[in-house]
Amino acid sequence: MTISQIPSPCYVLEEDLLRKNLTLIKSVKERAGVNIILAFKAFAMWKAFPIIREYIPYSTASSIFEAQLAYEEMGSPAHTYSPAYTEKDFPGIMKYSSHITFNSLAQFERFYPMIVAAGNRISCGIRINPEYSNVETDLYNPCAPGSRLGVIRSQFGSSRTSFPAQLPAGIEGLHFHTHCESSSYDLEKTLVHVEEKFGDFLHQVKWLNMGGGHLMTRKDYNVEHLIGLLQNFKKKYPNLEIILEPGSAFLWQTGFLRSKVVDIVENKGIQTAIVDLSFTCHMPDCLEMPYQPAVRGAESGNNGGCHVYRLGGNSCLSGEILWAIGRLTNLCKSATILFLKI
Ligand SMILES: Cc1ncc(COP(=O)(O)O)c(C=O)c1O
Repeated sequence: MTISQIPSPCYVLEEDLLRKNLTLIKSVKERAGVNIILAFKAFAMWKAFPIIREYIPYSTASSIFEAQLAYEEMGSPAHTYSPAYTEKDFPGIMKYSSHITFNSLAQFERFYPMIVAAGNRISCGIRINPEYSNVETDLYNPCAPGSRLGVIRSQFGSSRTSFPAQLPAGIEGLHFHTHCESSSYDLEKTLVHVEEKFGDFLHQVKWLNMGGGHLMTRKDYNVEHLIGLLQNFKKKYPNLEIILEPGSAFLWQTGFLRSKVVDIVENKGIQTAIVDLSFTCHMPDCLEMPYQPAVRGAESGNNGGCHVYRLGGNSCLSGEILWAIGRLTNLCKSATILFLKI
């Protein structure tokens, strides 16, 4: 199929690139002896689940609908974490999950009796906040001051008394998520803080979920260092099943968002190309983070140099403007734009 045959706008996933990432992730899982599961937050294109399942059979969900997706389309119960569960959703969350992580001790106390009443088949965890993250953008930093995500150590009691504090009965796992497009060296630094703050708990639980943000499929990621780090951590805590739940790493550079220029407008000498999609809807993190997308596929006029385009989304949000870089020398009406995350 050629680009012109693909409808616009359209997310296009390239299967061979996806399989390449899956092969790498599966090999890390096997060599490090950990469990790696897919975070739907980054990727919930369920038509691709049969391919993913060939390599990685489990997933993590953050809502009842994602948990249902895991159960029905991935074919396995979810590891579920949500900042807050409600009475209305919790029976469904239980139905579709093998693991449920709570964001606060109050949420655990409120819903754990329902898990016990239903036969205790679900493994419960609590999200911890190690108060350290290398993520600099506050919007994506779960350890920013006043963060609502995870329980800080002082809320459990002291770890520095001669008697270790006890986790509430029923908590079998700990979960932290503090990374975003991070390296294995970032994880190494985080683990120092996790051990310093929660080391006594690590001996009490059965599993430790290290969250997402491990961008192991990026070219410069040191996979060997990650494997060694995880192996050493496992040696130190042989009681622990280690779980990683990346999302972006599965999808990293496996496709593009095809779109088309539908108009070019001008205001006091500033030109904006309006495309047939909405950034806030189709690529929100390019406004939020903000990431700068690259434009791939300069079919004509490719002179090898890079250009910067002012692109506008097809919505009424005034600030829906992106600067994108690419090689199309002459961005004209009906030009094809293939957005890539860089
Ligand atoms: C709790 C949790 N787990 C996993 C992920 C996936 O992260 P990433 O796609 O950066 O790997 C996220 C992303 O926000 C998250 O909040």
